[in-house]
This record gives sequence, structure tokens and C-alpha cells, in this order.
Amino acid sequence: MNNPPESNAELQHTARRNLWMHFTRMSAYADSDVPVIVRGSGPYVFDSHGRRYLDGLSGLFVSQVGHGRTEIADAARRQASELAYFPLWSYAHPQAIELAERLADLAPGDLNRVFFTTSGSEAVESAWKLAKQYFKLTGQPERYKVLSRDIAYHGTSMGALAITGLADIKYPFEPLPPGGIRVPNTNFYRAPDFVADDITDFGRWAADEIERAILREGPESVAAVFLEPVQNSGGCFPPPPGYFARVREICDTYGVLLVSDEVICAFGRLGHYFGSARYGYQPDIVTFAKGVTSGYSPLGGMLVRDAIMEPFVRGTATFLHGITFAGHPVSAAVALANLDIFEKEDLLGNVRAHEAGFRATLEKLYDLPIVGDVRGDGYFYGIEMVKDKDTRETFSDEESERLLRGFLSTALFDAGLVCRADDRGDPVIQLAPPLICGQEHFDEIEHILREVLTEAWNRI
Ligand SMILES: Cc1ncc(COP(=O)(O)O)c(C=O)c1O
Repeated sequence: MNNPPESNAELQHTARRNLWMHFTRMSAYADSDVPVIVRGSGPYVFDSHGRRYLDGLSGLFVSQVGHGRTEIADAARRQASELAYFPLWSYAHPQAIELAERLADLAPGDLNRVFFTTSGSEAVESAWKLAKQYFKLTGQPERYKVLSRDIAYHGTSMGALAITGLADIKYPFEPLPPGGIRVPNTNFYRAPDFVADDITDFGRWAADEIERAILREGPESVAAVFLEPVQNSGGCFPPPPGYFARVREICDTYGVLLVSDEVICAFGRLGHYFGSARYGYQPDIVTFAKGVTSGYSPLGGMLVRDAIMEPFVRGTATFLHGITFAGHPVSAAVALANLDIFEKEDLLGNVRAHEAGFRATLEKLYDLPIVGDVRGDGYFYGIEMVKDKDTRETFSDEESERLLRGFLSTALFDAGLVCRADDRGDPVIQLAPPLICGQEHFDEIEHILREVLTEAWNRI
């Protein structure tokens, strides 16, 4: 028999005693409640006190179809009864096969081969390992370096962390695997002066910096460039016009693989199945996770072009990499049910129909003195907060600490909005609501942000 549900006081006690939350200052909960989310329905979640919150971050950029979808739960139950587990090491199962075909059909160009993982970090890690082994197999064994952008987050395992561009979260774990090289990101709001007047010039400069880095490192040593369609960390940097076309050209010139890290940007976040399709570029590898199952079960993976797979389909060649739970039958069945909902409810159409409304609603906040920049695409936005709109001066570390950790994160949650106040770059609020949302939800987000940001400004 199940234990009776624990009271909130018991949950709080046990959470403090036994649970280690991720990227969390545990001391912050010494004297205050751990937020305990117990239930979800559509774009809302409910805590252990029964309070309702609009899930403005889709959990963690995950819950595309929203919460409480019994048809996905049913698919998981059916699959667990039929075949709960079997590995993809030398075997296959129908759900992995069907999902691989479906993803290949949805992906741009000849991204026809799917290697499953359980998470985004594993997908990124796998893509780097694949790039390295691919070049060893094809007679260019010295290619191992990877380029990625300042402040970009690509995951936490050692390889993915070496690709991540956030010094603070890397430092405790150094030395990391060698070969991670940084290039500028596409934050036009903080563009260098000489390209600050024209976004196309800025994009050209940012892309050309990739070429300069390849030449500086030696093209024969560079394996891949890892880029998100819209960079999340730092607060949503969409690509300037022409950026990805130039990056593709550079990669082709120097024989470097273009990896599109779509752990956030795939599965409708930008109104397309893949972010690369929205911006019209062809990656060599796409990494994905999160939205592929809308979080009803963990799954990640990479989609690989036929040409990259080609050396692995001959003779004794084997990609020497695997993960026990990768492509788990229950997760694959869940992903298929998730994609059925995308189709049935035309979620991509919903995002495309409402994204202009989302932008316009958030842009209303420009009348607040603290709102410096509203940027993003699709259902994926960042709002940068500044101390001075005219000069774009940002907050000091102390102010940022007081503003973000001391006030904003808790105040937004208390006001009924799940979103993220982050200062891994400049201070931003990140928003990524479920793809089922419409104008009423955008209005609710704007209303809460307006109240809380007004109060934050008064406290500075
Ligand atoms: C772009 C990107 N890559 C990789 C990851 C790592 O994914 P995971 O947390 O599933 O390991 C994330 C996570 O947010 C991400 O945003």
C-alpha cells in the first residue's frame, strides 16, 4: 500500500534533511520553505500549499505540451507493460526505430541517423566524441578542438562543460578536457561599438570571429563548432541576419562540423520542429533533449547527417560510445505520443500564430525604467534589466545579488510566475512558456512582471 501523502511540514523537513537540489544554494532554504511542486495542469503547476503558478519556463524549457496529459501517461503505462527496458547496445526495439524514423523525417536535410541519449549533456558529449572519432576514422586524427560562444551553456558533464562558456561553473572542475575554444556570442544589445549600428554587420563580424578562431588554432586541429539557434544563457540571443549562412560557409571552407545544440530550441520552442529550420541552415549534427518528450520521461539524442555516419557503416568501424538508458522504450513511446499531440493540436501553428503577440506583450514592459532589452523569438524570450536605460549600464555584483537572489526570484514565484532570474551574463529574466499558451497567458506574465519589476526598481 502507498504511504499517505506527507504533510507540507514533513516534506519540508525531509527535503532539507535528504534532498540535494541542482545548481541551488542550499543555505537559501535554511530559514525558508523549499518550493515543492506537486501537480500540473496545462500551463499551470500547483505547490504543496495548493497555490497555482503559471509555468512561464516550461519547467526548464521542457514542458512543450503542458502538464497533465493523460494520453502520454497512458502511452508510458502501455509501453512499461509491454517492454519496460531493453538496451540499444546491439539490439533495437520498435519504439526507438519508429521514433528515429519520425525524427529523421522532421529534421532538415539529410539528418537521417539518430543516436539516443538520456539528456542534453549526454547529447553534447556524444556529439563531441562522434566528431573526434569521425575525424580519426577519416584520416584527420589531429582534429579535436571545439568552438563555442561566450556565456553559452551546453551542459555539465566534463566534455559538455568544456564546451560551455560560463567560467564560474567550470572553474571548480578544472582541469577540463582540453580543446574548448570561445568565440563571441550574438548579443546585439552589447555589441562592440564598431558594429553596434547595424545588426547585419554585427552578425558578419561575430561569424567571422569563428573563422579567425579556426585560423588562430589551426584548421587542422578544429573538429566542430557548437552553436544554439538562439543562445539561451545570457538571455536569448537570436542570430543576426546572415549569421548562420556565413557560419555554414566557414565550416565548409575549413572542414569543420557544425553542431546545432537544440536542446532548448527544437520541438516547437521557435515555431518549428528544429531551430535550424527556422533560420534556414543545415547542421551536420543536431543535439536535442527536453521538449522531445515534454518531460514525461527523460530522453535526448543527436541527429547525424548521412555523410558523418558513412565511415561507421563499413567494416569493423564502431562508434565506441553508449549509455544504458539511452532511447529507453518508455521514453521513446512517450516521445511518439508527445509528437502526436504536436500534430493533432498544431502546436507549431499555435506558436507561429501567437509569437508576435508574445513579443508585443513583453515589449509593453519597455515603459519600466529597469527594462533595457526584450529579445528572443517564438516562445523564447529574455528580458535584460539595467540600471540606466540610456547608457545601458548594468548592475554591480552586489546589486545583482541583492536584486536577483535577494528579491526577484522569490518575488516572481510568490506572485504566481515560474520563470528564471539569471545573472550568468548580465541580469535577465528568462521566459519559455508551454507551446499551448496564448494571449491570456502572455497578459498574465506581463502583469506579474510589471508589478514585481516596479517593486524591484523601488528597492535598488
Ligand atoms: C543548449 C543546452 N545544451 C545542453 C544542455 C544540457 O542538458 P541536460 O540538462 O539535459 O543535461 C542544456 C540544458 O539546459 C542546454 O540548454
